[in-house]
Amino acid sequence: MSAPRSILITGASSGLGAALARSYAAPGVKLALVGRDEDRLAATAAAVRAAGAEAVTGRFDVGEAEPLGAWILAQDAAAPFDLVIAAAGVSAGARADGEMEGRALATLQVRSNLLGTLHTIEPLLPAFARRGRGQIAVVASIAALRGLPYSPAYSASKAGIRAYGEAIRALLAPHGVAVSVIVPGFFDTPMTGRWSGPTPFLMSLDAMTRAIRRGLDRRARRITVPRLLAWGSQAADLLPASISDRIMRGFRFHIEPGR
Ligand SMILES: NC(=O)c1ccc[n+]([C@@H]2O[C@H](COP(=O)([O-])OP(=O)(O)OC[C@H]3O[C@@H](n4cnc5c(N)ncnc54)[C@H](OP(=O)(O)O)[C@@H]3O)[C@@H](O)[C@H]2O)c1
Repeated sequence: MSAPRSILITGASSGLGAALARSYAAPGVKLALVGRDEDRLAATAAAVRAAGAEAVTGRFDVGEAEPLGAWILAQDAAAPFDLVIAAAGVSAGARADGEMEGRALATLQVRSNLLGTLHTIEPLLPAFARRGRGQIAVVASIAALRGLPYSPAYSASKAGIRAYGEAIRALLAPHGVAVSVIVPGFFDTPMTGRWSGPTPFLMSLDAMTRAIRRGLDRRARRITVPRLLAWGSQAADLLPASISDRIMRGFRFHIEPGR
């Protein structure tokens, strides 16, 4: 399978999305980069161009389907995507004072994470199926495997992304389209910087990006990093709920309000 030449990445203005954009940047590659923060998105585009790639930027809220979808389809018409990575995401959860996240933040996470992923991928599914090639990657989380008590809506949004990714993976395989469901544990980004509490097996952004990139290069169906944390989470779920709930409550953390 040849290396992707036209790549769409959401969440490209920070963290994982920006790091993946830089990792794919090379002469002959075109990157379509989506984010909201103008300066940080421009910084990723500049880094990508400095590595010899072409970059176009789209400032969109992935929660708004129509403008995002129209831009994505226009970019696909100009240079058909052979890789799409839906990495945009936000996290919230219980506050330091113990106050719960509340409806507004809960809705924001489902909208940005789950609906944002759907809004990015759905417009492209017919074209990918018709062309009979390409790769789609969604970014779930360890929180998708077992709901985190202090971050319920984030867990729900990520479980939805995981289920969506698994569903389209089976659906698109006969069309020759690969779907990679990425299930990361904790890694060091501005998002994790707002979390206080245990972050077991915390990885550097570089190490996580390299591990995910290796999985993407071999078109892995599931990219779980680090595996041990995922196994622990799944093992907890095999226990009686009363016991696993008590264990999960031990991972007490709070999240400062984000940007
Ligand atoms: N960090 C971790 O430990 C961890 C663990 C598991 C999964 N993940 C997932 O990995 C992905 C990347 O996270 P990260 O740690 O790299 O976080 P980050 O540094 O905070 O980056 C998040 C990115 O998503 C974009 N974004 C958020 N909401 C958006 C919206 N509504 N519309 C458009 N763009 C939006 C941000 O854009 P702007 O800043 O321009 O608004 C930014 O580019 C997320 O899906 C996250 O849930 C992270």
